[in-house]
Amino acid sequence: MELILLTDRLRLRPTDESDLDLSLEMFTDPDVVEYVCDLMTESEIRNEIPNWTRRGGNGCIGIWCISDRDSGEKYGTVFLLPMPIDEDGTDYSLVVPGRMPEAEIEIGFELKRSAWGKGYATEACKRVLQFAFEETPLNEVVASFYEENIASRNVLEKSGLFDRGRMWCYGEDCPNYRITRNEWMESQQNL
Ligand SMILES: CC(C)(COP(=O)(O)OP(=O)(O)OC[C@H]1O[C@@H](n2cnc3c(N)ncnc32)[C@H](O)[C@@H]1OP(=O)(O)O)[C@@H](O)C(=O)NCCC(=O)NCCS
Repeated sequence: MELILLTDRLRLRPTDESDLDLSLEMFTDPDVVEYVCDLMTESEIRNEIPNWTRRGGNGCIGIWCISDRDSGEKYGTVFLLPMPIDEDGTDYSLVVPGRMPEAEIEIGFELKRSAWGKGYATEACKRVLQFAFEETPLNEVVASFYEENIASRNVLEKSGLFDRGRMWCYGEDCPNYRITRNEWMESQQNL
């Protein structure tokens, strides 16, 4: 399975240890983590790298590094990971080679601050949805966000996910955004 995904402007590849620089830039920036997690220290980030480089299924599930197709500059990450229900973060023990997690699969993304406002998150999100529905057995992809995170909601709506009301995830009552394989296929016919 080809895990390097290209778009007009971007190259997505599975994250690896060399992405520590990007993780340090993003997760020590209060603007980036505002609706994601607490600010992280360098040692906390280093400790998470083994989780952030895990892949599940046939490689289908995990985190991709988003970079510029021409310059190679890293902009951020986009992921397909098991949606936490009662926990307040991803359970990486479910991300196991050769097995799809028995959980709903969440799409999510974060960009470093200087990469906001250029359409990169939507471009990457759309490409990963294409991958999900063309290359993996997934029948539905879900997403959520803090109500105040309008930028995140906009990315999901522009990427074709639908507002389905509310759901319980991350141990809270949250927005419930989803797209099924059939809905995605229909959206491709209408392009
Ligand atoms: C969520 C996040 C990725 C959204 O970033 P973003 O830059 O708003 O989203 P996109 O990359 O899709 O860019 C869209 C913006 O680029 C603009 N844009 C500029 N050039 C563009 C182009 N060529 N194509 C498309 N859009 C373009 C759009 O007009 C839009 O700006 P607007 O919202 O002011 O109208 C970003 O805010 C972020 O990283 N936040 C911190 C992490 C986070 O909260 N993640 C989500 C957790 S649920």
